[in-house]
Amino acid sequence: MSQGGGMHVAIIMDGNGRWARSRGLPRTRGHREGANAVRRVVEAAPGLGIDTLTLYAFSADNWKRPRPEVNALMRLLHRYLRTETAELVERGVRVTLLGRRDRLPSRVLSAAEAAESATRDGTELELRLAIDYSARDALVRAAELLRGSHDPVCLHRFSQALAQAMHAPGLVRDVDLLIRTSGEERLSDFLLWECAYAEFVFTPTLWPDFTGEDLRKAVEVYRQRDRRFGGLSAEGERQAAAG
Ligand code: IPE
Ligand code: IPE
Ligand code: MG
Repeated sequence: MSQGGGMHVAIIMDGNGRWARSRGLPRTRGHREGANAVRRVVEAAPGLGIDTLTLYAFSADNWKRPRPEVNALMRLLHRYLRTETAELVERGVRVTLLGRRDRLPSRVLSAAEAAESATRDGTELELRLAIDYSARDALVRAAELLRGSHDPVCLHRFSQALAQAMHAPGLVRDVDLLIRTSGEERLSDFLLWECAYAEFVFTPTLWPDFTGEDLRKAVEVYRQRDRRFGGLSAEGERQAAAG
């Protein structure tokens, strides 16, 4: 658990292409279905004790995909932002964009910024959409912000700079639970710093099939984990005290 008492859950929403391929459909159909899964997790999250949800929607490396797929993804992001904002306001969800803003098609950027501003008073859930995101790139930009500073750089100041590099206020928030769908078990340049002590839950479910119930199960698995942060578990401490 972190600030505010709620959990920070981050999800690598993977497997849209395989979902489509297994049905003989174009990959973009999988991305379209993926948007419905986003709606489901956003709806379920607050009831599960999640106050921050960071979704990996488009990585900086995803620009390498064929142009038609990139265009389709951008169109879907635009559509999601445009059509969901009213509902997000209704649900008290605050949207923030994570990632580089200077390479996005201008209509995607303006839809994202409009969503940020329309939802800015939301208090139920912080929904951070990682678009054109690369954790390494964010770390490099944070280091750049600190260059030439005379004060010693400590973890606190670096965390501040990293938040600033991401256009976020305050400090970066540690991830409590990282979920990746589709059976892949890697970070793919997502939240490298913030996952220092994250618990990882991997599921074979493909993202378009992921439901609120799958999220609940992942949270349940997380709650059974013993997070020690380098120290001892409560049980270990009792044993140590008992000699
Ligand atoms: C995740 O699904 C969505 C994005 C990366 C944008 P993929 O498109 O990576 O689906 P697979 O991994 O090819 O099945
Ligand atoms: C990571 O998935 C990015 C998103 C889910 C947005 P990829 O499918 O792009 O990652 P790799 O290439 O399998 O590592
Ligand atoms: Mg993938």
